[in-house]
Amino acid sequence: MARTKHPNPAVARDRRWPEGAIVYHIYPRSFQDSSGDGVGDLQGVISRLDYLQSLSVTAIWLSPFYPSPMADFGYDVADYCAVDPLFGTLGDFKQLLAEAAARNIKVIIDLVPNHTSDEHKWFKQSRLSKDNPYGTWYIWRDPESDTGTNTPLPPNNWRDVLAGGPAWEWEPRRKQFYLHSFNVKQPDLNWGNPAVREAIKGVMRFWLDLGVDGFRMDAVYWLAKEPLLSDDPPNPEYVEGEDLRYNAVIHDNSRGWPPVYAYLNEMAAVLKEKAYQDKQRFMVTEAYPSSHNRIAEYMAFYVGVNPEVAAPFNFEGVNLSWEASSWRKFLKSFHSALEQFSPYCVPSYAFGNHDVPRLLNRLGQPAAARSAAIMLLTLPGMVFVYYGEEIGMHNVSIPPQHAHDPAAKGDPLRGIGRDPERTPMQWTADKYAGFTTGDNPWLPLATDSRSNNVEVQSADPDSFLSLYRTLGKLRQEEPALKYGGIEIIDVGSSDVLGYIRRRENSGTFLVLINFSNSMVTCRPGVQARTLVISNYAHASQLEAANAVIELQPYEGMVFSLVDSSQ
Ligand code: NOJ
Repeated sequence: MARTKHPNPAVARDRRWPEGAIVYHIYPRSFQDSSGDGVGDLQGVISRLDYLQSLSVTAIWLSPFYPSPMADFGYDVADYCAVDPLFGTLGDFKQLLAEAAARNIKVIIDLVPNHTSDEHKWFKQSRLSKDNPYGTWYIWRDPESDTGTNTPLPPNNWRDVLAGGPAWEWEPRRKQFYLHSFNVKQPDLNWGNPAVREAIKGVMRFWLDLGVDGFRMDAVYWLAKEPLLSDDPPNPEYVEGEDLRYNAVIHDNSRGWPPVYAYLNEMAAVLKEKAYQDKQRFMVTEAYPSSHNRIAEYMAFYVGVNPEVAAPFNFEGVNLSWEASSWRKFLKSFHSALEQFSPYCVPSYAFGNHDVPRLLNRLGQPAAARSAAIMLLTLPGMVFVYYGEEIGMHNVSIPPQHAHDPAAKGDPLRGIGRDPERTPMQWTADKYAGFTTGDNPWLPLATDSRSNNVEVQSADPDSFLSLYRTLGKLRQEEPALKYGGIEIIDVGSSDVLGYIRRRENSGTFLVLINFSNSMVTCRPGVQARTLVISNYAHASQLEAANAVIELQPYEGMVFSLVDSSQ
């Protein structure tokens, strides 16, 4: 794709809502139940929009709410253009769009283009025979030949991401195997078939016509595989019994082939169609970099998929070790790469989601999770906040016999899977934390929900929630934090990350993050006006350019600077 140029990069940024956006990620099952059945729903989301406004969110991203047998909790879609009765009706969704718009909150929905449910009407047809209208909509292959046995053997050694077993399932009616890169109930669509691509673009148009502001695109690396479906090479570092079974092979052939970018760009083009010019639509693509060259992997998406309407998630908040030096190096080269390519590139930072342990569990210390929040909400571009992170929710241990997640059931090394980070939102000190009025929440509540919830934290100016609210407000009000560039500076301490967010005539901010568990001093060498935010109640002030700043363990600080350009 040609490099996108704009005569004035600042204009390219200011006109686009993803710049500086705070996107709040809702896992609908776990956010708010309005019907008393123990599962969150769309009316529940509507009832919490005022709360989301109090966090200054720009947009919400809803994980799937489509009809589904829930083998992967909605990521197995049985009908792309409807709402599962568990979550409500299409009317509820329209109401949600209208009520969100009335509060100036945009709505992004999850699109799962790589696979459907095996209960989707396309697959129900496809599995019947080779010669039906949907016969080539999925990835079907004959069994391995010459096996010398009567048992059909899968055509290659590809593995299922969730359970780690073979990614192929036998269909006796067709006498062929179908590919399921994820759960056996999630057959992969055949993206090489233009009819499939058209059908998914039709799904996009259905939701765009209703007024959604964009999409989060699921599992995009799997859209294109090596054309001959050759074996994945064995992983020489794999240790049986220690590593996930999925990692017994290196996934060179089963995902990530170059057509991925062309397919995504085709979908991005839908967002630019004339019918959708009334407002700016945007999509964020889910792909975890797998090579050592992660910045190059991120850049491949910006280069291949029109950055005016698309950006890949940046998962360094999940991948990178929590060390100042790693972040310094990453931020410097990532942001230079974006700036050099096009002013339209929007960074898109997610520090957590429904697939990874909560921030508090990954970082270990509440103070570290707070300074991570300061960092996230002062980084450029879009930032994603997973529900509950704003009150410092932690993973909840789930007894193995109560595990729901299919990832927990396949490979014993996956432990109890992803349920622990999907437990119900903690709103109040009531029995089920105000999540449900029924008696059967789909996952147990955290045991500390009576003391740790929105109600309690709202009354405490030093709480996680108050910190998130202050940060949200600052990000929305300050053009330097919303649209400004980022400059990584040397602050004379290996433990402290320092950066400046600046925008001409709109103020300048200095951010300092102490990644260590000790008190450290640093000398940022800039003249500050005021300390605007810290995760400690009594933090130091910075007055002169030569001042030494002392940071508490894991402290994060934001200063407003004396701006020489004003
Ligand atoms: C990524 C989603 O976030 C995850 O929850 C799901 O299991 C897989 N894609 C498969 O759709």
